[in-house]
Amino acid sequence: MRVVSTKAELEAGLVELRRQPGRVALVPTMGALHAGHEALIDAARDVADAVVVSIFVNPLQFGRGEDLASYPRTVDQDLARCAEHDVDVVFMPDFETVYPGGDPRVTIEPGALATELEGVSRPGHFQGVLTVVVKLFGLVGPDVAVFGTKDYQQLVLVRQCVSDLFLPVDILGVETVRDDDGLALSSRNRYLSDEERPAALALSRALRAGRQRAPAGAAAVLSAARVVLDDAPGMQTDYLELRAADLGPAPAKGDARLLVAARVGPTRLIDNMAVVLGGDAETAMQQGV
Ligand code: PAF
Repeated sequence: MRVVSTKAELEAGLVELRRQPGRVALVPTMGALHAGHEALIDAARDVADAVVVSIFVNPLQFGRGEDLASYPRTVDQDLARCAEHDVDVVFMPDFETVYPGGDPRVTIEPGALATELEGVSRPGHFQGVLTVVVKLFGLVGPDVAVFGTKDYQQLVLVRQCVSDLFLPVDILGVETVRDDDGLALSSRNRYLSDEERPAALALSRALRAGRQRAPAGAAAVLSAARVVLDDAPGMQTDYLELRAADLGPAPAKGDARLLVAARVGPTRLIDNMAVVLGGDAETAMQQGV
């Protein structure tokens, strides 16, 4: 496994990788890797011949008052996980490599969807995400890039960006990995105290309760999920929304996405699940209800 940090080192690593025929996959991360990232790396390995993981805590996607300074940095453990999962190249650039000269002159304007859901409390977040993702695509030139469905709005916006800008990269979304108790894995879970962690389980409980009511339609889904959130002590819900799979308005029937964001103490968590509205009980069973 090569660990590189400059553009020149990355290019040398890529020349080496490209000597072999086959596809190169990129897994963009901000480090603090966990089993969810390992699932992304394994999925990348399944669809490509070489895997590049980037580790870069991107200041542009953090708002004022957010956790940029305290965001967990666990480089040694991250590199060990990458080595265990046969990563070919780990790209760990510094700020100057990604943003030569400081603030970027050119950024990606993500459009209206970026002002909804996460965008309401995190203005500018997705502009920062798409700007760094497009830069990483430019630096690495992957054939395929892998993102988790845990950050569902991010995944939808990356797909829109790639489609609208005709970028020559396939986007693969990988299912959220959960702890045994249902909590979606996130680098920010480590902020939760022992008392806060049980409270955080209300997010996935609410989504499951909503999904269970999917055969009865949108209103039933939302009210079942809302009851769980309202009953959860120590939790402040930011939003609970049911949308179409592309995050447009929810359909009356068929594929939809239930999304939630909430604060548990000072920690803001997000989660989401697929639901099939108006489906029969058998479909609900297949969804793991
Ligand atoms: O999902 C993340 O970890 C980040 O938003 C990403 C895609 C690596 C961009 O910084």
